[in-house]
Amino acid sequence: MDKLIIKGGNRLDGEIRISGAKNSGLPVLAATLLAEGPMHICNLPHLNDITTMLALLRCMGVGVTIDERMCVEVDPGSINDFTAPYELVKTMRASILVLGPMLARFGTANVSFPGGCAIGSRPVDIHLRGLEAMGATIEVDEGYIRARSSGRLKGAHIFMDTVTVGGTENLLMAAVLADGKTVLENAAREPEVVDLANCLVAMGADIDGIGSDSLTIRGRERLQGCTYSVMPDRIETGTYLTAAAAVGGRVKLKDTREGLLEAVLLKLDEAGASLSMGDNWIELDMKGNRPRAVNLKTAPYPAFPTDMQAQFTAMNAVAEGTGTVIETIFENRLIQIHELNRMGASIALEGNTAIVTGVERLKGAPVMATDLRASASLVIAGLMAEGETVVDRIYHIDRGYECIEEKLQLLGADIRRVPD
Ligand code: UD1
Repeated sequence: MDKLIIKGGNRLDGEIRISGAKNSGLPVLAATLLAEGPMHICNLPHLNDITTMLALLRCMGVGVTIDERMCVEVDPGSINDFTAPYELVKTMRASILVLGPMLARFGTANVSFPGGCAIGSRPVDIHLRGLEAMGATIEVDEGYIRARSSGRLKGAHIFMDTVTVGGTENLLMAAVLADGKTVLENAAREPEVVDLANCLVAMGADIDGIGSDSLTIRGRERLQGCTYSVMPDRIETGTYLTAAAAVGGRVKLKDTREGLLEAVLLKLDEAGASLSMGDNWIELDMKGNRPRAVNLKTAPYPAFPTDMQAQFTAMNAVAEGTGTVIETIFENRLIQIHELNRMGASIALEGNTAIVTGVERLKGAPVMATDLRASASLVIAGLMAEGETVVDRIYHIDRGYECIEEKLQLLGADIRRVPD
């Protein structure tokens, strides 16, 4: 297993380009199953999760061609197997996103049940209840969700009792080909849901209320292929901004947009960062200062994203003062604090709340990544720490950060990857 070795203490300074959003690329790739003709998806990040989704489409018989710039042509016409097998689903829970489109377009789908994961139990009950409300029959058999529909799915009024990004995406993709009108209430408003909806509209779907918590979809008999470029990755953007804030540095991030991460920018401002932005760039300058601790609570968009919680916890670890971090989305998503404490941080855990008392400096140590965003927080901790930090199990980080060591090197960090 590869490791990252980081010698801390360099102040980040420079410019990098932000990649396309993983969490938008995944549902958009799943949506290609809905098209009658080939789809061209551009600005996909070169990441393991994207490769897994392409492998999943391929193993179902879908034609996939990739060019050297990660523009992918997907032709669902040749699909011959309606199964998302355990081997792929176990490496990426987002495989569940093929369920809605496969069922809507072909009337049948077998998707391995995604289990829990390091950050919590993560059920998919809302996805399944919504599809049943649209007339599907669903059985769970030998670890597989077996969904069937005789004829088209039927439009339905669906209230989701928890805001779920994947649930909203799956049901939206099912509804665009259903017979009649579907209303999705308490829908997730995350920018990635908006990006997927925009892609579906470009394919010919009829969706009202995009960006709100109530989506009205009038099902079409068929959707056509189109060319679609996925949005910038707001979590990658936030991660590099937070890394620079934590080490007192300056970064300019290109090909990204401030409107995607207002809650994060607000907290960086509170931490003492000078921020400036243009149409497609954001610059953060800490002017060599230590950040001030911030309090935050994760919640569905537009509030502070759970996917940025771990990075802010790491920044708070070296900030002036004490910051309280409350995680409300996943039950076990503060696990990285034990590794941060091993590096000299002073973080107390009370239920879903981390109370972080900033220390002047962390000390390098061997640490273990447990999930994607927790890994990013350990890299940030390594950049701030005195001495050497070795981050093990970085396959988690490769699921979500394109060329992380190259991008950090461009910003002046002393970081390298070593194969085991
Ligand atoms: C997506 C993101 C992930 C992010 C999360 C929350 C992708 C590929 N992943 O994950 O990075 O951290 O949104 O912003 O886009 N829940 C249920 N029943 C369900 C579905 C969800 O109880 O049927 C619960 C989950 O356990 C969790 C909460 O709802 O507590 C939110 O989960 P959800 O928004 O569905 O997360 P994902 O779509 O899996």
